[in-house]
Amino acid sequence: MAQSFHLLLLFFVNLICFSSQQDLSFVFDGFDHQYPTDNLYLDGLARIQNSDRLLQLTDVTTMGMGHAFFKRPFDFGSVSSQSVSFSTHFVCALVPKPGVPSGHGIAFVLSSSRDLREADQVGSLGLLNRSTDGSPSSHILAVELDTAQSAEFEDIDNNHVGIDVNSLHSVESASASYYSDIKRKKKSLKLLSGDPIQVWIGYKDSLLNVTLAPLRNQKPSKPLLSRSINLTEIFPDRKAFVGFSASTGTLISNQYILGWSFSRSGVLLRRLNISNLPTVPRFPKKTSPSLALLPLLIALLVLLALIGMAVLGGVYLYRRKKYAEVKEPWEKEYGPLRYSYKSLYKATRGFNRDGRLGKGGFGEVYKGTLPLLGDIAVKRLSHDAEQGITQFVAEVVTMGSLQHKNLVPLLGYCRRKGELLLVSKYMEGGSVDQYVFHDDKPALSWSQRIAILRDIASTLCYLHTGATQVVLHRDIKASNVMLNRNLQGFLGDFGMARFHDHGTNLSATAAVGTIGYMAPELTSNGTSTKTDVYAFGAFMLEVTCGRRPFDPEMAVEKRHLVKWVCECWKNGSLVDAIDTRLRGKFVPEEVEIVLKLGLRCTSIVPESRPNMEQVVQYINSHQKLPEFSPKFPGIGVSTQVLMGVPSLEITFSPVTSSVSPPSVSPSSADNSTFISHTIIYGDGR
Ligand SMILES: *[C@@H]1O[C@H](CO)[C@@H](O)[C@H](O)[C@H]1NC(C)=O
Ligand SMILES: *[C@@H]1O[C@H](CO)[C@@H](O)[C@H](O)[C@H]1NC(C)=O
Ligand SMILES: *[C@@H]1O[C@H](CO)[C@@H](O)[C@H](O)[C@H]1NC(C)=O
Ligand SMILES: *[C@@H]1O[C@H](CO)[C@@H](O)[C@H](O)[C@H]1NC(C)=O
Repeated sequence: MAQSFHLLLLFFVNLICFSSQQDLSFVFDGFDHQYPTDNLYLDGLARIQNSDRLLQLTDVTTMGMGHAFFKRPFDFGSVSSQSVSFSTHFVCALVPKPGVPSGHGIAFVLSSSRDLREADQVGSLGLLNRSTDGSPSSHILAVELDTAQSAEFEDIDNNHVGIDVNSLHSVESASASYYSDIKRKKKSLKLLSGDPIQVWIGYKDSLLNVTLAPLRNQKPSKPLLSRSINLTEIFPDRKAFVGFSASTGTLISNQYILGWSFSRSGVLLRRLNISNLPTVPRFPKKTSPSLALLPLLIALLVLLALIGMAVLGGVYLYRRKKYAEVKEPWEKEYGPLRYSYKSLYKATRGFNRDGRLGKGGFGEVYKGTLPLLGDIAVKRLSHDAEQGITQFVAEVVTMGSLQHKNLVPLLGYCRRKGELLLVSKYMEGGSVDQYVFHDDKPALSWSQRIAILRDIASTLCYLHTGATQVVLHRDIKASNVMLNRNLQGFLGDFGMARFHDHGTNLSATAAVGTIGYMAPELTSNGTSTKTDVYAFGAFMLEVTCGRRPFDPEMAVEKRHLVKWVCECWKNGSLVDAIDTRLRGKFVPEEVEIVLKLGLRCTSIVPESRPNMEQVVQYINSHQKLPEFSPKFPGIGVSTQVLMGVPSLEITFSPVTSSVSPPSVSPSSADNSTFISHTIIYGDGR
């Protein structure tokens, strides 16, 4: 009857009922002014956070402890020990501090004294000290939620629940876990996680049960710990204060009680309103600077990665552009003869100026070294994309197949946008003009000169008649005749060479060449073998006389070599025209043949020029040069050019539009301009 009355009273008197001395029963659905928190005795670090509605047992103060006891003791009553019972349900949260060692834990305590301030500060959970530990006079029963493993108290791990009777050596302990009724198995639980944990402690019939579960779970049907305890033996006075105890020591953590319900009997135990419990404050994330900076760091890394990729991409594009080549399907068949721009770039050390062998209107020549071939010469020619490049490359490649001992071997080519590179063997001796016109090299002897002329004549003859196609060199001159180490002559520089089948002509080809070596009919009739013969004639004269076809420095009568040689002949002394550096050491008969042949070859009448086969016969004295006088028509006539510098390379428009003005590409930029190109008929007319 009294029981049911109390039940009724509990329903009508909200929350808390102190019906009698013996029936201590209370509930804290959070700790704030709605509840009579002044019924709690707090000491040490323990405090009630009204704003958070939390009972905080410890904070991050080291070597601290906190106690919270219900002010009135739990009176067992005078009845037999068997009838003593109590039941409690509380929710706690142990919040670790990121980055620091956290731990120790809390204990639910029944203690004869509510003043435990004399307890050891380290590792005692605020319960006992060295002198009281293990002493029956301590009168303490505790259920510890221990998050530090103490060797001294033989803890099983750093996440366990234990029952302590007057000692921190637990009489019973187990790793924190709970029985899941749904899964029908034990599940472990991390105490020091910051998550709220429900704890039920029941004592009845001398059996103490301890049960744990996460916040949202129902009370598990099986307790974690179940231990027979004689409560009246521990508390002979039959009364004890109930509450919580915790300490920090060296391991710190925020430890909270969120809600607490206690009753003498499990039946009367008020349920905690779980949804009304306060929330647990976490340590602000920014306490870990590395974590706070993480997004920034990631952004920075991403940025760096992007920059790196951009740089790599840029380098890739730059290299691609730097080494870019033009390659077309038809070039496949020339595969072996095609060089990569990269290899040539490297061979010439980036077309280093120190390795530059020469510079002309059609390009620059660089010395280089290829691993397998040794020294090479690379000529860079600029070309316009549309200008018959297919044919040109085909010719270049065919040139590679030409076989003559006095041809500078053409090794291959490379194409880029607007640029064509020809690779040939490097000739150690340099070019003939260096010996003939300049004093930087020793003068060639007559026997060396005639040998060179004979070799080049034979080479040109081969090009005109010996190859499968007619090959027109179109730029025969001293600077294009190369010498090897033994000063033997090689015809080189096919930068302007043209091919055509035997029996056809190339009248529609643009007139190209170097002034002084260009036959007058070039502008009207275009390139032919005869124009090569003309240039070879001029070459013969310059090698023999040791001067350029046109030399503005000289007296007017000597200025035009062709004219002057003819003059000398008319004056009865042809050998007067010879290079003075020979100092009279020459074979007069040979000189005479060469000079006369030179004049015949430079005749302005193409038909009166010999062909190269005949030239070879005459120059080798295999055949006698036909007699002719210096008054022979077309002989000794100079193509007068008004210009500042003799070596000027010009390109005429195709003869189909012969009236259009010639375009000029001077060999050096500061040259005076080309004014006109006229043919002046000499005295022989
Ligand atoms: C231990 O605690 C008891 C009371 O709880 C106190 O009287 C005693 O002085 C303490 N001893 C030490 C060493 O702190
Ligand atoms: C303790 O648990 C056992 C089963 O393990 C149960 O029989 C007993 O009733 C429980 N006692 C209390 C007080 O919960
Ligand atoms: C509990 O301890 C008290 C006092 O030591 C004793 O009288 C009582 O018989 C004990 N009860 C049980 C069940 O052992
Ligand atoms: C539990 O608390 C919530 C929120 O405060 C409230 O709405 C609800 O009525 C309470 N439930 C009980 C059974 O008191």
